[in-house]
Amino acid sequence: MARKLGYLRFFIVCVIASIVATTHAQLQLGFYAKSCPKAEKIVSDFVNEHIHNAPSLAAALIRMHFHDCFVRGCDGSVLLNNTNQQAEKNAPPNLTVRGFDFIERIKSLVEAACPGVVSCADILTLAARDSIVATGGPFWQVPTGRRDGLVSNLSESTRNIPTPFDNFTTLQTKFNNAGLDLNDLVILSGAHTIGVSHCSTISNRLYNFTGKLDEDPALDSEYAQNLKKFKCKSINDNTTLIEMDPGSRKTFDLGYYNQVVKRRGLFTSDSQLLVNSVTNSLVNQLLQGSLRNFHAQFAISMEKMGRINVKTGTQGEIRKQCALVNS
Ligand code: HEM
Repeated sequence: MARKLGYLRFFIVCVIASIVATTHAQLQLGFYAKSCPKAEKIVSDFVNEHIHNAPSLAAALIRMHFHDCFVRGCDGSVLLNNTNQQAEKNAPPNLTVRGFDFIERIKSLVEAACPGVVSCADILTLAARDSIVATGGPFWQVPTGRRDGLVSNLSESTRNIPTPFDNFTTLQTKFNNAGLDLNDLVILSGAHTIGVSHCSTISNRLYNFTGKLDEDPALDSEYAQNLKKFKCKSINDNTTLIEMDPGSRKTFDLGYYNQVVKRRGLFTSDSQLLVNSVTNSLVNQLLQGSLRNFHAQFAISMEKMGRINVKTGTQGEIRKQCALVNS
């Protein structure tokens, strides 16, 4: 009897210990130092070798990372293909996300070095950071140890990823749901200093804001006229790309905030940073401060974003291919 009780006690201790280990597993810098010492270098070497042929991928990858983290946390769910349900990839905000092959190519190199060790979620997070650094943007720390999710669901993306049409309250709610605050909203929106948008994303603001063939009064009318004349020439233009920070879309500078205060931010969501006194004053403080200050704050918010609802320990899995859950 005493021996049985002993076994039972041992069993309970083991169960509790494993629960504690799972829930307390955390991201850490250099998580793969022993299990796959070359992992981070494989990612950065690949990025450094290839990003100069396609520098616009840096913007695409940081956006992909953001879209990943806002849906089920940073668990690589955005990378998964459709199964019996439509995956996140097919949700409207992700239809303009590029770079899936790029991540898959890095994954296959990492798999060749250390099979089944490094998650796609970590590879995406590292590649996003490395590509921004390689194109002259800020560096931020990427603690690793994320594991890959098993589920990817279109409707969750549609619900959780901020849209360009969102008003301030909706943006605040979506960021809060992800554990991010108004400071993060302002700082991370600064990523719109690089990259491009499709004309179709702003055609409502240019051509038919309230259904009366009108412009959005929150958009600088001179700027709107210019866009209509030279860039987005028709309401049906689905293909033309426009810079979000004209003239400096490759430079990770304060240009986006300059655009916003001039009421030239492209999206309603950009314009909403001015309607709230807290975010409005944050934008102005950023413009009065230095580029170095913006980069430092951006680094803090990016690291925070990269921690959203991560799976660690024994949660999820380490996928063999980023587009497929393991069979
Ligand atoms: C605040 C809410 C946000 C909204 C509503 C939003 C929306 C959008 C939209 C609609 C586009 C253009 C899509 C197109 O027409 O091709 C875009 C592009 C982009 N977004 Fe955001 N975004 C937000 C926040 C962020 C954040 C937090 C990041 C990264 C930290 C980010 C990074 C980017 C980048 C780099 C691009 C350019 C992509 C490219 O050139 O391929 N955005 N965003």
